[in-house]
Amino acid sequence: MPTPIVNLQDHERAAQAVLSASAWAYFSGGAADEITLRRNLSGWQQWGLAPRVLQDLRGGHTRCTLLGKTWPFPLLVAPMAFQRWAHADGEAGMAMAAAAQQCGMVLSHQTSTPLQTVARLVLAEPDRGPLWFQLYWQSDKAYLQDLVQQLEAAGYEALVLTVDAPVHGVRDRERREGMQLPPAVRAVHWPQTTAFTDTRGLCAGLANEAPTWADVAWLQSTTRLPILLKGITHPQDALQAARLQVAGIIVSNHGGRTLDTLPDTAHLLAPIAAAVRGHNAATPHTLNILVDGGIRRGTDLFKALALGADAVLLGRPALFGLAHAGAQGVAHVLRLLRDEFEMTLALCGCANLQDIQLSHVAALGQHDNVHAHVQGSPGLA
Ligand SMILES: Cc1cc2nc3c(=O)[nH]c(=O)nc-3n(C[C@H](O)[C@H](O)[C@H](O)COP(=O)(O)O)c2cc1C
Repeated sequence: MPTPIVNLQDHERAAQAVLSASAWAYFSGGAADEITLRRNLSGWQQWGLAPRVLQDLRGGHTRCTLLGKTWPFPLLVAPMAFQRWAHADGEAGMAMAAAAQQCGMVLSHQTSTPLQTVARLVLAEPDRGPLWFQLYWQSDKAYLQDLVQQLEAAGYEALVLTVDAPVHGVRDRERREGMQLPPAVRAVHWPQTTAFTDTRGLCAGLANEAPTWADVAWLQSTTRLPILLKGITHPQDALQAARLQVAGIIVSNHGGRTLDTLPDTAHLLAPIAAAVRGHNAATPHTLNILVDGGIRRGTDLFKALALGADAVLLGRPALFGLAHAGAQGVAHVLRLLRDEFEMTLALCGCANLQDIQLSHVAALGQHDNVHAHVQGSPGLA
């Protein structure tokens, strides 16, 4: 009898069993020595939980507010390229599963399914999560303007500009296996003139094309859609985003796929959230904070919210569910995470997201007294 699939790790094993070596290296791998990739996973485990008991849990719910709107659940599928390489259901299956599970969908600029197809599927579901599109900056502004118009017309609700990957990153595993996309899979909205992995290097021109803060302002001026910046790891960059009045930031190290040895997001989040809290308290503008990287359990999601995130993005596990079982696999992954999160919420004594406090987490050191940390955790300085 096959082993039952009861958690996200089981989905990962099932995916590895069906993917080619090249696809496995691309979907699961990280940059260089994969130190950040591994730390993203262990980072959440270094935070302990500090539950409160005998709380009134009646009327509990998981609703969250993002960009001024209320949504059923604080989880979105992260933008991930070439999903039809993982499974024929591709981005369409991913989007249907996300919407059916009341989670959001962020479609990658390197989607292998047309953006209009994905939008139609998501918007047809009444109790869905947000529908956002992720952009990699392109120096061809006419191309960008045209794409933004298509996104607005299709019903996308925000643009996520990825700012941490002006170049591809050193991917040893991927290079060893060779990235062999099947002939039928391509990035359908990617400009013809830009190579998917640009190997020219900085000196040959990439530095001139990498986006700057001025480009963010230009993008704001070309669209009525709210903009989020994905790949923020420094509190000063978070504050600069806030000053530009962007709608949100995603604290992310690209799932450990770009710059190796960056710290894990579980530890990057709190100082950024503290800086943003100051901005949000002092101005009428609210900057939303999301985080991704290494979320594999409902407890991880809970800790992210306690450390200051408004919502969380899930990357590889959604792809793994897709790879071995299509849309159903993704739905199962999201359902598992939702159930685990709801259990964590109740077991920590919280009826809803507003009840989750910084004091529900504590940094775990080798000889630490959990409760001594709640006020003076070194991670929260
Ligand atoms: C196979 C793969 C493709 C990705 N493609 C994109 C992309 O096109 N755009 C982007 O902003 N991030 C991309 N990412 C990064 C994810 O959006 C996200 O930041 C990361 O996967 C989160 O970490 P996790 O996989 O540990 O959950 C990709 C990640 C993976 C694993």
